[in-house]
Amino acid sequence: MAIRLIVLAAGKGTRMKSALPKVLHPLAGKPLLAHVLDTTAGLNPAGVTVVIGHGAQTVQETIPHNVSWAMQTEQLGTGHAVQQGLQDINDDDQVLITYGDVPLTRLSTFQKLVDACHAKQLGILTLYFDDPTGYGRIKREGGKVTSVVEQKDASPEELTINEVNAGVLCVNGGCLKRYLGAIDNNNAQGEYYLTDIIGLAAKEGHGIEAVQPMDKWEADGINSREQLAVMERIHQSNLALELMANGVTLADPGRIDIRGELVTGTDSMIDINCVFIGDCRIGSNVVIEPNCMLINATVESGTTIYANSVLEDCVVGENCNIGPFARLRPGTQLAKDAKIGNFVETKNAVIGEGSKVNHLSYVGDATVGSNVNVGAGTITCNYDGANKWQTVLQDDVFIGSNSALVAPVTVGKGATVGAGSTITGDVNNNALAL
Ligand code: UD1
Ligand code: CA
Repeated sequence: MAIRLIVLAAGKGTRMKSALPKVLHPLAGKPLLAHVLDTTAGLNPAGVTVVIGHGAQTVQETIPHNVSWAMQTEQLGTGHAVQQGLQDINDDDQVLITYGDVPLTRLSTFQKLVDACHAKQLGILTLYFDDPTGYGRIKREGGKVTSVVEQKDASPEELTINEVNAGVLCVNGGCLKRYLGAIDNNNAQGEYYLTDIIGLAAKEGHGIEAVQPMDKWEADGINSREQLAVMERIHQSNLALELMANGVTLADPGRIDIRGELVTGTDSMIDINCVFIGDCRIGSNVVIEPNCMLINATVESGTTIYANSVLEDCVVGENCNIGPFARLRPGTQLAKDAKIGNFVETKNAVIGEGSKVNHLSYVGDATVGSNVNVGAGTITCNYDGANKWQTVLQDDVFIGSNSALVAPVTVGKGATVGAGSTITGDVNNNALAL
């Protein structure tokens, strides 16, 4: 027995009013469909088939996961969609069917459905809603699930049922193929309903185990940008709770956004409106003041990032001070106790222990030793219009304010550059250059 997944993602998503296929809209920076594929990977499925239609090519090009693609050129219903995805299904498989626009179902919930599925029983995810409008209703007799009736086909009495079909189910492969061969589109919408397989299974005397998710949002699909925004807040709130559980203080768990992975030590404090993108790491006792953006950034323990700083593809060592209003661009590496002050931009810059670039400077394509002081307004002139050149400031160098260092240039150990200098040639150790 193997678990195989069929993910339905052919629908148009008309209500998104978007050129982007619905399942590619990002939640926490990641396409909806990728959330489903990442979570279900935890089941170690033997195979995953994604049924695509609208925007098929864009979906295939965007999603990096190793899946089989099945085409559904006309959206004739969820049953028809699953039929298109049967090519890899074996009779003894446990086939888990879910939607590409339902991003936050927990692995444990999928696992419950898989556990409920065997040759003579299928598992179906259901919920109880005060207002079940729009959903397929779960019909029961003597407590046992007997069928699902869609909103548009339901009698007034059936419409009062408040147990609904979430859309996720797990069924034996052989049964699935047999049932799908038997469904028709004689219904209010003229569609092939996947949900009709429930009635067929019940008629065969098979068990139907209804499984509920821990949280209702696990079954929420995205049909509009409004629902996407609501889901984003739910997800961010979950991530914020996780951070706090791991020992991070958040000034306001409602005002942090994580679009990727944030790995943290303990006793760090993150103030409001900080955004973390990609793979970010912060150590222990780090303070991040309001309005900072970190993109693939590592910040080691004891460092403070003052307000309004942007750090991208960089590594900041222990006990550094960054900002306020600092911009650390890709390739910036700071050793411990370094200081990057306000309105300073760095790029491809390796800056040594205890060195300071405190005010209004640009340090790009540079190697700066330890205990170097770069005065206010210093610029590494790294670009001659065609090529980028390196600036090297050796240990204990002092650069006076408002200096221009025209690369390639090396300032030797212990040398001093006077304020307002334009340095076009190398400076010897311990020399004074003006
Ligand atoms: C479906 C269920 C309903 C359930 C609801 C939960 C059926 C017949 N009904 O209804 O019982 O309460 O989901 O949200 O299954 N899709 C395709 N190809 C198609 C049709 C749909 O890929 O031909 C995909 C859509 O992109 C979407 C998913 O299947 O991701 C569900 O389709 P949708 O039209 O939203 O189903 P509902 O009518 O809401
Ligand atoms: Ca739907």
